[in-house]
Amino acid sequence: MSKRTLVTAALPYANGPIHIGHIAGCYLPADIYTRFLRCKDEDVKFVCGSDEHGVPITIKARNESITPQQVVDRYHSMMDNAFKGLGISFDVYSRTSSEEHHRTASDFFQTLYDKGVFEERETEQYFDEEAKQFLADRYIIGTCPKCGHDGAYGDQCESCGASLNPTDLINPVSKLSGNKPVMRSTKNWFLPLQDYQQRLESFIGEKKGYWKSNVFGQCMSWLSQGLQSRAMTRDLNWGVPVPLKDAEGKVLYVWFDAPIGYITATKQLLANEWESYWKDSDSQIVHFIGKDNIVFHCIIFPAMLMAHGGYNLPHNVPANEFLNLEGQKISTSRNWAVWLHEYLEDLPNRQDELRYVLTSIAPETGDSEFTWSDYQARVNNELVAIFGNFVNRVLVLYQKYYDGVIDTEVTDFADERHAYVVEQATRNIESAILNHRYKQALTATMEVARHGNRYLTETEPWKVFKTDPNTARVILNDCLLLMGYLRKFVQPFMPHTSSRLSALLGLPLQNVIPWTETISFSKGMVLPKPSLLFSKVEDEQVSAQLEKLTSVAADVINEPEYEPEKDAVSFDDFTRMDLRVGEIISAEKVKKADKLLHLKVDVGFKTISLVSGIAEHHKPEEVVGKQVMVLLNLEPRKIRGVLSQGMILMTESADGRLVFMTPYEKVEPGVSIR
Ligand code: 2FM
Ligand code: ZN
Repeated sequence: MSKRTLVTAALPYANGPIHIGHIAGCYLPADIYTRFLRCKDEDVKFVCGSDEHGVPITIKARNESITPQQVVDRYHSMMDNAFKGLGISFDVYSRTSSEEHHRTASDFFQTLYDKGVFEERETEQYFDEEAKQFLADRYIIGTCPKCGHDGAYGDQCESCGASLNPTDLINPVSKLSGNKPVMRSTKNWFLPLQDYQQRLESFIGEKKGYWKSNVFGQCMSWLSQGLQSRAMTRDLNWGVPVPLKDAEGKVLYVWFDAPIGYITATKQLLANEWESYWKDSDSQIVHFIGKDNIVFHCIIFPAMLMAHGGYNLPHNVPANEFLNLEGQKISTSRNWAVWLHEYLEDLPNRQDELRYVLTSIAPETGDSEFTWSDYQARVNNELVAIFGNFVNRVLVLYQKYYDGVIDTEVTDFADERHAYVVEQATRNIESAILNHRYKQALTATMEVARHGNRYLTETEPWKVFKTDPNTARVILNDCLLLMGYLRKFVQPFMPHTSSRLSALLGLPLQNVIPWTETISFSKGMVLPKPSLLFSKVEDEQVSAQLEKLTSVAADVINEPEYEPEKDAVSFDDFTRMDLRVGEIISAEKVKKADKLLHLKVDVGFKTISLVSGIAEHHKPEEVVGKQVMVLLNLEPRKIRGVLSQGMILMTESADGRLVFMTPYEKVEPGVSIR
């Protein structure tokens, strides 16, 4: 382990509150990791702050007739409080609208400019003559060329999901004045990413097997497409002004200044000491982010750092995937979210329950899902029934039998098995956390509670006490030691629980419990009166949350759900798929399978046999004669004993019916689709 670690968590945009998806994806793993390093007595700093620039903030301000500064002031303090409420232990929570950040970002840009790094380019962009300003993509609306939707934005159509350029829009209109914008040329400064391609390839190449495979894979896919110059400035009046003479009305691109926000935050935290965390060879930087930020942290920011010189490149970027909510993607605009500040208000003193559940279901290797019923089940069946039950049973018995008085020095386990369990947990939790496998680490932690609970059930001290109070005490003393260790193991995950457990055990409160600490109780100690560590989540609390979720989002719930965009594939990858038009020549139900039809499909040069799961949506007689899209070279397999030599491609209608992809006009069966 190195001498210093700087942990950063993605600076959240200050245009809306924090939701549980942000927490599970980024802030909670970052907090667990940092808290663990603190337990290990490592030199670690944890920085974050609000990302207060970018176009969406200006749009929000406009919609609410307030200034962008007022927007970010509101959300900055809201997010700051919510993070604190959940126990996310940033050493500093900074903000990018601060003077210090403007100076830091501006100086960084100036250094690159002085080194001649940038390409100056004139490009044509839409300009609003009445508002006298260039229009960001989101400020232009028009008709989508793909689906005809009238309110498509310059960067995306929210009706069909297509990615667009402003010039793709039919009848573009400025959102500022309602007028048709004109094309005007403008100068901006581009970072020639292609100049860093080789260095980035070797930097990222070295991380193979060390970085998470989702992160490494996305980086390789970007690199394999060949990097291109990217504008690092924008024609906009909200952001860090471009520090050049001929750059009035221009600001730094939000993704240029945001990661520099990590540097600003470190400076604010450490004043003159900040540089060692960014520049010394024995320091390492770990960026926690969500998967939508990978390219910015693994390619663009490292290229900026290379261009600047003198900075360390990220040591690791353990990005998570996305968390869904009750079967749908979390959506800020549709209010389909569990907002952290509301959770803390609605379910007070249940911070650790949320931390526990979100760690248990963290989207570490793929998207995952939060549901309120699962939340309730995990709290009630795991935290209450296992962890809480173990603690409570021991403490209640101790009070009842011995008035809570410990009558001897308790240092070592009487039963060797416990020492083994503690030793295993110490090792397993450590290695899982350091490898960013937080779910696994939490399972290893809970294993200690499970073990304790099992031990109690097996030894039954309440029976033993009747005939042999001394042996019952020995059993319970072992349990006290186990609980002492548990409070240490859970600290990174559930810091509030750890403190409560310390109090219940009469142990001193420590912000950081050293990982190497051995637990002991001294003779004469009196345990406080026990109280419950966790309480059950009631059905009414769950239904109230579900009701809240669906009532605020009810009017938009039927909008189509778009799957996240997939990683880019090469043209070669695409051509490997043998896609053709086929014509269905016969169809019959597959015996004892309600959903399946057995189809014979003419693909020109042969007839193939296919099994398709469409029987609930299409009768056999209706599909005969239809032309469909077939993936011909899908490996053949048998489904319910029937050979299937490919796949028919389908989509889904708004009401969930399967719909064939059919050529616009009839074509010869067997022709290729490209
Ligand atoms: O995706 C986001 O919420 C961005 N505001 C993250 C920025 S991370 C960093 F670069 F500051
Ligand atoms: Zn569209």
